Amino acid sequence: MTSIDVTEVSTHTDVWCSPRWIHPTFLPASGSSAVRISLMPSAQTHEIPAASRLENIRYAIRDLACVADELTRQGHKVVPLNIGDPLNFDFHTPPHIIEAVYKAMRDGKNGYAPSPGIPVALEAIRGEAARKGITTVRDVFVTSGVSETVDACISALVNPGEDILTPRPDYPLYSAILCKLGIALNTYDLNEDDAWQPELADIERKVTPHTRGIVLINPNNPTGSLCTRQMLEQVAELARRHNLLVFSDEIYDKLILEDTPHIAFASVAPDVPCVTFGGMSKNYLVPGWRIGWGIVSGEAAAVKSYTDGVQRLLRARLCANHPEQYAIKPALEGPQDHLVEVQRKLRSRRDLTQKWCEATPRVSCVAPRGAFYAYPKIDIPESDEIFVKELIRQKHVMVVHGSGFGQKPGTQHFRIVFLPDEQTLTKAYAGIADFIRERYGKP
Ligand SMILES: Cc1ncc(COP(=O)(O)O)c(C=O)c1O
Repeated sequence: MTSIDVTEVSTHTDVWCSPRWIHPTFLPASGSSAVRISLMPSAQTHEIPAASRLENIRYAIRDLACVADELTRQGHKVVPLNIGDPLNFDFHTPPHIIEAVYKAMRDGKNGYAPSPGIPVALEAIRGEAARKGITTVRDVFVTSGVSETVDACISALVNPGEDILTPRPDYPLYSAILCKLGIALNTYDLNEDDAWQPELADIERKVTPHTRGIVLINPNNPTGSLCTRQMLEQVAELARRHNLLVFSDEIYDKLILEDTPHIAFASVAPDVPCVTFGGMSKNYLVPGWRIGWGIVSGEAAAVKSYTDGVQRLLRARLCANHPEQYAIKPALEGPQDHLVEVQRKLRSRRDLTQKWCEATPRVSCVAPRGAFYAYPKIDIPESDEIFVKELIRQKHVMVVHGSGFGQKPGTQHFRIVFLPDEQTLTKAYAGIADFIRERYGKP
């Protein structure tokens, strides 16, 4: 009698069977009347491939972390000018909103919340919409960060074969979600020569009968630009003509670095179907809490079916984080003192950044007017991705390459997060200037 192993079956059972059930290659040379099969436990080694839809998903902001991790392991300190998390620097969450979440947890608000959000938060968001000048609010809902609002609102709109116009450069979440849904990208350019305003002629060129919506990011990541009122009116006009839903991502609307106030798209176009995205991550310095929201506005009849679709998706995912929702009302309606301090720091760091860009050969930059990003152009004979990776390796300063956000062919950029204090920024910028001089020489 003979025994053979059959691998990749996770059980210990041994069985005996007739040789006629065994493939001849497994049988011993000498004849035998029964074969013992030992079903051995073993590791599953077959590769599980990811869905091919995901092949084009890149998140350059975090993908670069591998290069930085290697340097950190070698004992170097890397200056992170790549991730827009104010809590990594000298910014602090307002204590009264932390108290509100503590209290909610102590009061037992630890179960599931209603799918659209808790009533007290929804009421506060409606109040915020009114302060933003949005008069035709049809629905509001709370999500796990603006990231989830974007996902739900795009998923509820597009069918296979349809598309949504997204800006180039853009915040990469938009293209990632479209890839996930199997929707082909349709990007319109932001015009660097016009302070990064949307290029209307390009939008007109790109709209097709299958285009369902358009994304505006205002204030913008990665450029730090603000849309002018005239631009918003022109986009509204275009949306009316082509029956588009506008997604207006206004997550940075309280981080304005100019004296002019932020203008909400939905306030200039109350009739145009629009979802305004807002959240706590940046304005209230709690990106880890994952609280965002959507405000649907426009003619009631026009947005009804779409809003029902969003709500169906929200029910399917149960709810957003529950205790954290209790911070929404005190954040939006309580003291806003922290914003004065945040804006003071950001203005000073923006000015320092802009001066450096103006003084550095091969670098030029449209001055940021909102958020905490600068998006300088660089004039170099190689790709901005190589520039960024070599900069990390040689000077231990981490920025993100423009190609990670999309840019007009033939141009190169990098995104700076100017959240660190002035001393850290000055040192980092000196490192970048040295790197540019040493690697590329004079232009
Ligand atoms: C333009 C923009 N939208 C959305 C998000 C995601 O925000 P949240 O933390 O609320 O998911 C970010 C984060 O950086 C962003 O820059």
